[in-house]
Amino acid sequence: MSDLKSEATDHVLNELRVFTPSQEVVDNANITAYMHSKGYTDFHEFHKWSVENRFEFWDDMANELHWFKKWENTFEWTQKPFFRWFTEGKFNIVYNCLDRHMGTPVENKVAYYWEGDNGDTRTITYKDLYQQVNRFAAGLQKLGVKKGDRVGIYLPAVPEQAVALLAVARLGAVHSVVFAGFAAHALRDRCVDAEAKIIITADGNYRGGKLVDLKKTADEAAAEVPTLEHVVVYQRLGTEVPMKEGRDIWWHDLVADIPEDVVVPCEEMDSEDMLYILYTSGSTGKPKGVVHVHGGYAVGVYATMKFTFDIKPEDVFWCTADAGWVTGHSYLLYGPLMTGATSVYFEGIPTYPNPDRFWEVCAKYKVSIFYTAPTAIRSLMRFGEEWPQKHDLSSLRLLGSVGEPINPEAWMWYRDVIGRHELPIMDTWWQTETGAHMITPNVTLPLKPGSATWPFPTIEADVVDKDGSSVGHEKGGFLVIRHPWPSQMRTIFRDAARYETYWNTIADVYFAGDAVHRDNDGYFWIQGRVDDVIKVSGHRLGSMEIESSLVSHPAVAEAAAIGKPDPMKGEHVKVFVILKNGYEASPEMEKELKLHVRSNVGPVAVPDELEFVPSLPKTRSGKIMRRVIRAKELGEPIGDTSTLDN
Ligand code: WTA
Repeated sequence: MSDLKSEATDHVLNELRVFTPSQEVVDNANITAYMHSKGYTDFHEFHKWSVENRFEFWDDMANELHWFKKWENTFEWTQKPFFRWFTEGKFNIVYNCLDRHMGTPVENKVAYYWEGDNGDTRTITYKDLYQQVNRFAAGLQKLGVKKGDRVGIYLPAVPEQAVALLAVARLGAVHSVVFAGFAAHALRDRCVDAEAKIIITADGNYRGGKLVDLKKTADEAAAEVPTLEHVVVYQRLGTEVPMKEGRDIWWHDLVADIPEDVVVPCEEMDSEDMLYILYTSGSTGKPKGVVHVHGGYAVGVYATMKFTFDIKPEDVFWCTADAGWVTGHSYLLYGPLMTGATSVYFEGIPTYPNPDRFWEVCAKYKVSIFYTAPTAIRSLMRFGEEWPQKHDLSSLRLLGSVGEPINPEAWMWYRDVIGRHELPIMDTWWQTETGAHMITPNVTLPLKPGSATWPFPTIEADVVDKDGSSVGHEKGGFLVIRHPWPSQMRTIFRDAARYETYWNTIADVYFAGDAVHRDNDGYFWIQGRVDDVIKVSGHRLGSMEIESSLVSHPAVAEAAAIGKPDPMKGEHVKVFVILKNGYEASPEMEKELKLHVRSNVGPVAVPDELEFVPSLPKTRSGKIMRRVIRAKELGEPIGDTSTLDN
């Protein structure tokens, strides 16, 4: 395999394969039915209609959900770039995930087949989930949680993770989920920024057979969150953990005296009220708290479940993402639940105990729609076809990909080996900030390996130069979106100025920060980030976070982190380190610094390469020029060095 960068260029020239869907798939697609209702059979013509009639499209989608009170205006620019969707509507996403299904056939349907890291299983119906969410919401109320409060969630992928998010949102409080693989200071910074009142965690968990000491990490963080009142601890392992008197409470004790059939009514939220904050790394510094709201987010996620995944009542849907990432928020939790789907909820990792874990679980639950990341596909390809071939994957009907560009080689393997040489792959381009799919196939579109194809209905995506002019077809440029959409983030928590940069980097359009080109058929080919974010195995790491953790080591004067193309992980981290006087560059020092990053930022950020250097290229104002370092490292032209100091 060659690296991602050259593949992005390679497939521009060479990737000519096109796979057209069968007529049967097209005829039965949800999108076909909707297109027919508007008088269209051709997706591209329909897309044009949807851009011109975007409010009609989104009204139709919103009308399929439950509103306590219907909205007045579909869309309002308040003060550009701030906007509102479904104004004056009263809504709660959790009502649409749970309450709405009670008393219907969905009530007794399986919501989640949970599969634990060690092979434990639990089957949870919609009714079970409804009861558990109500009961836990009543528990949180006892701790004083109310509308608007922020709750940090630091849990492994157990069903209680879903229960926690849904209970918080049911009360109108705001969840801020932190991936349970993050180190203490990452949890602390996020909880401090969100002013969290509660952290929900577990005693510990196993991941890939390895013990994770969650409570210990949570305690380290909790000690430094001034607004924190309580830590709720779910007992996952039953190990002995310290419980701080007056602050910590076991989940099971909290709900012990609450009747199992308690009902805590959903808080009737304004459409534009905050649902969650999810922190994502920026290129320039501290993580940004992306804010999503109840109404528009729900409508966007619901519509993409319906049209991208073509979800049907009999499907078994499996999104392998953890709820610590936006993909888990939208397509493990809210999307499947709003559509009344049955999902798999997976605690493990793809390679434990063997590299057929995914395929074993697919066969076991007769998964029909499987959604994962290119990095997982690439790592499983390495183990060979014999692993998937051991399992009956005939229940699959649709495959999905998200998180980074999928190279054509991995795409073909996915289709051929997992998809029986015939299944369509929905390569969905979107972001934490967009809330839901933005550029994505649907099952009626011809597919090209490595292309995310076409924008979702109503989405006006374009490829532009730095002045915002369209570059046309067959040219690379910046990916922008020309009009707000419902599931778009509303702001960056307590940092509106940072939010505004999305809309003023290029005047009046949403700047995605990705490089892209569009081919002559109008298909989009995403080429990766334009900024310095390093993407390791589907995780977005700000170079700043890695650098500041290195600099916090007593021996380090300065550091710069860059991403280098990596056939397995997408990118891996290389760091350049300037040692302080009196410290010696040595293999021991290298090892120590890597360990330091591991404990500070987490294992995913550990540099694969570390080089000791005497100086770093900088701008006159003192900023490290990572672009220059990267170009030098990869033997590429260095480009504009007018601001370079040394
Ligand atoms: C990248 C994940 C190519 C892209 C949902 C984007 C992709 C960033 C794709 C967002 C895709 C995501 N093809 N690139 N199908 N999906 N990306 O916020 O660079 O974790 O801007 O959201 O991932 O990452 P995030």
